[in-house]
Amino acid sequence: MKKLLSIVLALVMVLALVACGNTTNNNGTVDNGTVDNGGASSNDGSSDAEQTGAGKTVGIAMPTQSSERWINDGANMKAQLEALGYEVVLQYAEDDVQMQVSQIENMVAQMVDCLVIAAVDSGALTAVEAQAKAAGIPIIAYDRLLMDTDAVSYYASFDNKGVGTAIANYIVEAKDLENAEANGESYTIEFFMGSPDDNNAVLLHQGIMEVLQPYLDSGVLVCKTGRTSFDETCILRWSQETAQQWCENYLSGFYADEDLDIVCSAFDGFAYGCRSALEAAGYTDANWPLITGQDAELMAVKNIISGKQTMSIYKDTRLLAEKCVTMVNAVINGTEPEINDTTTYDNNVLVVPSYLCTPVAVDAGNYEELLIDGGYYTAEQLAE
Ligand code: BGC
Repeated sequence: MKKLLSIVLALVMVLALVACGNTTNNNGTVDNGTVDNGGASSNDGSSDAEQTGAGKTVGIAMPTQSSERWINDGANMKAQLEALGYEVVLQYAEDDVQMQVSQIENMVAQMVDCLVIAAVDSGALTAVEAQAKAAGIPIIAYDRLLMDTDAVSYYASFDNKGVGTAIANYIVEAKDLENAEANGESYTIEFFMGSPDDNNAVLLHQGIMEVLQPYLDSGVLVCKTGRTSFDETCILRWSQETAQQWCENYLSGFYADEDLDIVCSAFDGFAYGCRSALEAAGYTDANWPLITGQDAELMAVKNIISGKQTMSIYKDTRLLAEKCVTMVNAVINGTEPEINDTTTYDNNVLVVPSYLCTPVAVDAGNYEELLIDGGYYTAEQLAE
């Protein structure tokens, strides 16, 4: 009888928790009431009494607040975990590897029940990851794969090669590259790729080159600097300043007498840097290049609307957070999370079971449907 009563009580508490669950929109603000998750499926097991996080703490180590996406990722995850009753310790390392190591060391010392890590440098955390494993703390890799460790249980991310494929396919279609040779057209292009210590950046470059290499080979695309390999085009820590500097150098050197037609950038931050360089070099609407990006940050979407950026890759951080939360629940409660890839993400020690969300290209033609109708941004935010 006593047991039955405690089960009933537990169920009532869970229902109450779910009913008043706090959820986030994409401004990092917390809304009370209904979840607007833009069509993201909700299978985090939040209605299951055994999967609540009461009395458990999750440590979240995020790379930086210098780019909007990570602020949203952290806020979304914190809100979703707190809605399930978890305590959350959320820390940002401001792209400082050592700072991230000590933040995670502290979380291990605190004996959190699970760690969620989006690494500054994906291979630099092996020692602290081993400490976590020795202490029995499971680790989920968030968005960036954790390399060279056996301490990681699951990986929640987007199809990172698919991001590159989507960027490249956009360029092919927008410039009609398939017919360019026959039409006697060619376009100049430069590449601004991601950080060499981020596995995502390597995959993204592979995805781009798989599509664009034939056009570089045939001369339909002309890269005047000759810098097309990952080693030649990667930018440490995804630095906007470096991208701007490179773009300024290219424009005043290789492109002093000829326009740059395509800025193939792997990140919205790079697109902002290149925009500044292009404006400083006197580019106008008449010769403004096609500029790609990634993350569909608020500023990027505003730039897409005003024509200063052509496209970005929409990665719904609410959905990613939701998938990660299912993994946290699984490692803490001994259940199975949803996995859709068990072959791709080899971190040099093991192939990490992953859930990969689908990246989508966004431009002036579809941002309203994708982002406003999908509840990611409001029309007011984009108009400000
Ligand atoms: C993420 C991208 C992001 C980049 C820079 C990558 O690991 O996958 O979405 O643009 O880091 O922050």
